[in-house]
Amino acid sequence: MAKNVCVLGIESSCDETGVALVDMPVQGLPVLLAHALYSQIEMHQAYGGVVPELASRDHIRRVLPLTQQVLEEAGRTLADVDVVAFTRGPGLAGALLVGAGVACALGAALGKPVLGVHHLEGHLLSPFLSTDPPQFPFVALLVSGGHTQLMRVDGVGRYQILGETIDDAAGEAFDKSAKLLGLAYPGGQALSKLAEQGNPKAFKLPRPLLHSGDLDFSFAGLKTAVMVQVGKCAQAQGCAAQDLPPATLADLAASTQAAIVEVLVKKSLTALDQTGLERLVVAGGVGANRALREQLNAECARLATRVHYPELYLCTDNGAMIAMAAAMRLQSGQQTANENYAFDVKPRWPLDSIGV
Ligand code: KG4
Ligand code: ZN
Repeated sequence: MAKNVCVLGIESSCDETGVALVDMPVQGLPVLLAHALYSQIEMHQAYGGVVPELASRDHIRRVLPLTQQVLEEAGRTLADVDVVAFTRGPGLAGALLVGAGVACALGAALGKPVLGVHHLEGHLLSPFLSTDPPQFPFVALLVSGGHTQLMRVDGVGRYQILGETIDDAAGEAFDKSAKLLGLAYPGGQALSKLAEQGNPKAFKLPRPLLHSGDLDFSFAGLKTAVMVQVGKCAQAQGCAAQDLPPATLADLAASTQAAIVEVLVKKSLTALDQTGLERLVVAGGVGANRALREQLNAECARLATRVHYPELYLCTDNGAMIAMAAAMRLQSGQQTANENYAFDVKPRWPLDSIGV
């Protein structure tokens, strides 16, 4: 690779259409030139969750205007794009197919190679776009709406899963609890905002697998405990769950968040201890959670361990992380973009199986 490479990245695995342009130097970290995002959350809120068919159709509507917008903002044209990257999985099959189809059509039309990227690798490498990028090796806490994993990361493509959730993901625990508190989908962010007004010790909620000694998580029981607690509060106050006073709802939110965060922090520290590594990277939507960041910052400061996060706007799904992951794979020489436009997608795709 003798010159800078311009990578266009397209993310469409779930309910956000993201497009970004990254400039990859021969050496050093890639630079984000422009990115654009369209969130479908409002459309899905009416249904209380993502409706896959509606998601696919909306990605079709958004992806080309967003691409146009990104090129304009970066002052580039399609002719400047050297590689087209897209999210190949995991995610919703129909939604993934839109991004893959558009990326491969663009690649074929421009005569440029394409590269399918693992969505979680995008999250994992997104902190490299921050003002405080990490260095390998590190322990990664990957906390999104669909995944909760602790990983040992030795380099691009060198990922070893140390532990993961055996049922619900951390983001799912936030979202399902938020729904029980009457908050709109996806609810994680709203719950954390509500939690700021509440007492985290007001209700005693379980910390699943806190003392299991391993690095696995389980959040399904917590959601049930929240449901039981909401029912008890409603009974005590003689009202329906949706009519609970704001102060009670805030206490429930704060107690739920405290339970999730305590488990995530404790297991992250155990992973650092077990691996002997002195660097932690947090990625994925739940990485935007303020309580999680505050507690990890405090614990890591105590242990003289560095902790890195993506910029807040890159915690949830976006195209920049896909362009970035593609750029880093190409730059490390661990994968080459190809001209096989007969694409496939991988709705289920374990991150530790992608290799280098
Ligand atoms: O990484 P992401 O955008 O999508 C997936 O790949 O799943 O993560 C979305 C998840 C949702 O569950 C959302 O509620 C959660 O991240 N989330 C938060 C916060 N912001 C987003 N959870 C807790 N606190 C937040 N501030
Ligand atoms: Zn994601």
